Order: sequence, then C-alpha cells, then structure tokens
Amino acid sequence: MKLLAVETSCDDSAVAVLDEHGTAAAELVSSQLIHSTHGGVVPEIASRLHMSVLPGLITEVLEMSGTSLHNIDVFAATAGPGLTGSLLVGLSWTKAAAFALKKPFLGINHLAAHLHIHYNSAVEFPAVALLASGGHTMIFHMLSWEECFLLGTTRDDAAGEAFDKTAKLMGLEYPGGKAIDLLAEKGDPDAVALPSPLGSKKLPEFSFSGLKTAVRLVWEQGNVSPEDLSASFRKTVCNLLVSKTMYQAGRLEAKSVLIAGGVSANSLLRSSFNRECKKRGMSFFMPEIKHTMDNAVMVGRAALSALNSDPLACSDYSCNTFPRWHGKRLSPLSQ
Ligand code: KG4
Ligand code: ZN
Repeated sequence: MKLLAVETSCDDSAVAVLDEHGTAAAELVSSQLIHSTHGGVVPEIASRLHMSVLPGLITEVLEMSGTSLHNIDVFAATAGPGLTGSLLVGLSWTKAAAFALKKPFLGINHLAAHLHIHYNSAVEFPAVALLASGGHTMIFHMLSWEECFLLGTTRDDAAGEAFDKTAKLMGLEYPGGKAIDLLAEKGDPDAVALPSPLGSKKLPEFSFSGLKTAVRLVWEQGNVSPEDLSASFRKTVCNLLVSKTMYQAGRLEAKSVLIAGGVSANSLLRSSFNRECKKRGMSFFMPEIKHTMDNAVMVGRAALSALNSDPLACSDYSCNTFPRWHGKRLSPLSQ
C-alpha cells in the first residue's frame, strides 16, 4: 500500500510517500524562509508560495520513492487547524488528485498528526502527551491512538510563540526558538528570576503572556546578557512544560510520555523529560529533530491510524479547512 501525504497548514510545504507500516519511502519539506524578514508568517505570502512550490515537491517525492501518482492507493492532507489560505492549497490539490484517480481521501487534523509522528513507535497506553509548537501548548491523555483527550491548553500565548517573541525582543531572527536554545547553552539559568504564571503543576493549563512582559522589562533595564536571559527564560518555560506534563502522567498512571511540535526540539526540554521519565520508569518518546517541525510523515501516520481502526475510513470531498480546533476528544480524521 502506498499513501501520499501533504501538509501545508502554515509556512512549510511538506510531502511524503509512506507504506502501510508508516515508513516513509521519501519525504521533503520546503520551508518558507521569507517570513523571517517580516518577523512572523504573512498568510497571503505563505499561500502563494505553497501554490508555486507544492506541485514540484509532489513530483520530486514521487520520483524519489520510485512511484507515480497512478500507483498511490490513499491520499491524505491536513485540513486544519492552520491558516485558511495555506491549508486550501494542500487540501484542494490532494482532494482533486484522489477524486481524479478514484482513490480514498483523508482530511487530517494537524494536532493529531503531530502526536502521530510516534505512531509506529512502541508507545504503551495510557500515555500523556505534550504538544508544544508555535501555535499550540496542550496536554493530552491518550488511552489509545483513537482515544485522545485534551487535559488543558494555554490561556494566551503558545510556548513557541513565547520563544519567538523573546527572540524578537533580543533582535534574533524569526522563528527564534532554536536561537534562544543555542544562546541558553552559554548562559546562567539562575541569572534572572522570572515569574512562572499558572505555576501549579497540578493545573494542566498554561499562560505565557505575563512571562513575556517580565522578560521585556528585564531586557529593557539593559543589564543582562542575551545568554543569561535566554538561559533563564528557557529554564522557566521548560520547568512549566515538564512539571505539568509529568504531574498528569503520574496522576493518570501513564506508561508512556510523548512530546511533539516545534518546541519539542528544545534541548533542555528533551533532556529534562528524559530524566524525569527515567526516574518514574515511564517510556519517553521524542521525535527526531526533523519531525518536531511541520512535516508530512506525521500526516501520513495519522491517516494510517484512522485506516487501521476503520479500514473504510475516508473523508467526504466536502471536507473543508478549519482555522482552529475546539473540543475535548482529538481524532486523526478531521471529518
Ligand atoms: O510545530 P512547528 O514547526 O509549527 C507550528 O505548528 O507552530 O513549531 C514552530 C515553533 C516556533 O515557535 C519555533 O520557535 C519553535 O517551534 N522551536 C523551538 C525550537 N525549535 C523550534 N522552540 C524552542 N526550542 C527549540 N530548539
Ligand atoms: Zn505544527
């Protein structure tokens, strides 16, 4: 079985061909670097670039995997949440191809897709998962791949957004999470005392806007180095993410802890979770760095998960984009 997966929810165009085990025969991501000059993603530019890049990217991935469009058995694309103009490019292309070739089409939830990057790992349930990216900070309770429940989310900014805003303040490029992570390696994490809003580990909710303001005030006073501020900021955010997720993992007697999304590339976050999970005898799953950011392999694996629980799983051609996800139960199939 060959599955073609497409992801265009924000500023990365991504395509992958997967087999029935979720192994990628080929995958490519084309990142839109132009947004760094604007200090954030410009939706209209993002959708135009997806339009010009996606067809060539699909041809290239098909060639790399040694197959052709006519040999694809299942088509999957991200339907949301994300930027409408960006989503429309990948979703419309994929629906049209599936319709023309009379093959099933699956519209995929981007958040479920991030978690499904771990689909072909030995995850044992119950599990607790942290999804932390530029747009989301969420903790989930997973009883299986299909039974995934939201425990809490952020009340304001996402963790990645907090990294990006702190980076911008210090004159670093957008997105700035990686730059802060690198600077933090050379700084003293105890140099600056920063607040931990909604700091109780028992509360599975986050708030990063107060922290952002505190960081700005410290920076504007001018007597802290970028390295020390980065290290103190990184430590504060990681403590919040790790302590809240691990508390839920303990409370729910999780066998596995999963992390996913762009912020799961953070080196302190990875080492802290690793240490905490070892201490408690829980298995820990973190994506390869290339799969922390938006990619199509996760979309393909989410589609496989839906098909494995229902071999006839399929979205209607009326499956539309959606900008935000609200709900309690997260499913791979968007509709
Ligand atoms: O998942 P992703 O590629 O896109 C969204 O769906 O949002 O996540 C991008 C986010 C950005 O905010 C970026 O600054 C952050 O992930 N990020 C990091 C690191 N690498 C990327 N944040 C902290 N530390 C990193 N090493
Ligand atoms: Zn994402």
